[in-house]
Amino acid sequence: MAKQENKTISGFSKLNKRGKIKWIVENFFKEPEAVMNELMSYWHINDEKQKILDEISENTISNFHLPYGVAPNFVIDQRAFAVPMVIEESSVVAAASSSAKYWMERGGFSTEVISTVKIGHIHFYTSGSVQLLRSVFAQLKASLMTEVKALTTNMNKRGGGILDIELLDFSELEPDYYQLRVKFETCDSMGANFINSVLEQFASSFVRFCKTNDVVRSTLGDIEVVMSILSNYTPECIVRSEVSCPISDLGKYPGGLSAEDFAKRFYKAVRIAQIDPYRAVTHNKGIFNGIDAVVLATGNDFRAIEAGGHAYAARDGQYRGLSQCTIDGGQFRFWLEIPLAVGTVGGLTNIHPVARRSIELLGHPSARQLMSIIASVGLAQNFAALRSLVTTGIQKGHMRMHLVNILRQFEATEKEIKQTLVYFKDKVVSFSAVRDYLNLLRDKML
Ligand code: MEV
Repeated sequence: MAKQENKTISGFSKLNKRGKIKWIVENFFKEPEAVMNELMSYWHINDEKQKILDEISENTISNFHLPYGVAPNFVIDQRAFAVPMVIEESSVVAAASSSAKYWMERGGFSTEVISTVKIGHIHFYTSGSVQLLRSVFAQLKASLMTEVKALTTNMNKRGGGILDIELLDFSELEPDYYQLRVKFETCDSMGANFINSVLEQFASSFVRFCKTNDVVRSTLGDIEVVMSILSNYTPECIVRSEVSCPISDLGKYPGGLSAEDFAKRFYKAVRIAQIDPYRAVTHNKGIFNGIDAVVLATGNDFRAIEAGGHAYAARDGQYRGLSQCTIDGGQFRFWLEIPLAVGTVGGLTNIHPVARRSIELLGHPSARQLMSIIASVGLAQNFAALRSLVTTGIQKGHMRMHLVNILRQFEATEKEIKQTLVYFKDKVVSFSAVRDYLNLLRDKML
């Protein structure tokens, strides 16, 4: 019990950074000094840059590095991009790059931003008559819009703002439960802060309106606003990216698989993800390998994108693959339609120095262009995964990188890596097999 006591603390957030690390290493590690040095070795050499990183989150003691890679040769709507990707999984960037080049030679990706509307809600309960509220709804809307002006002026100038306010009745599902559903256009910003600020202002204006309006005051009773928050489900903020080519242009595949047979098998793989949720989840995970990597690299919110994307995948009640394929009239078409609420101004995009560089690398895209880029990377990733799965399987390419990762864990030299790669060319890679081979190499037994 005495030991356990050292593992909790009050006032941790008040300690300075060194104090925080000291407490952590002394109470949770066997070699406090070595761990402290290691954690501090990941601090940025430039104090100001480190401060920026520290202030992005709370209780920060070090930086957690992830690889920042680039997938070149993405031709999207006739424009070439080298796309930044932050991802911890090997093979993802290689797969995106290979797919990008493949489709570059076949006309590239064509995209369409279908809509950019975002949604937020004021969730409220009332036992009173909402029919009366409906009768004065125009008045309520006007009053909400007037009282929120200070927050919306700038967004209005940029061409965005509040698009609509609706009153929704959920009382059949849950007694007394209603919503004000608000639709927003947030232009180049993801808009979470804007939307949440507007909603909170609306909530207090709404309660005041109900307390003071002559028509509803006596009959609506107390309005209980439970919460006011944007929704990360954005089925009206949708982009579509597509690739297509004559089937005969799809190329040749290992084992003598013809372009036509490849197209048919690829189509079946897409269909399977439409039918079986077990496969659909993995299928979509592959899509998000690409999407999350660009979302992260550009300082956007990957949890929001994931949550919204998966909900969209289940929009008809069954979880399905997000991509679609057709083979028609000798033409192969493959596309992805997905909600992507992202921004290119504001938020982390402006704060994180490397996210800023990502935006620059992409040529300072608008949010709509970034939606097109991200969807295309998701589609490319899905194409690469399915192409491997229906031909060689994914392990062949994957294992080579996995092998290098294992070798790095054993601090193998470049010469040892080369020799091991040759040795395992036609063998099954496993952690123990690599370790044993490396030991033999090092003992000069080979
Ligand atoms: C691995 O990260 C992703 C894949 O499993 C995706 C898929 O199966 O489509 C290869």
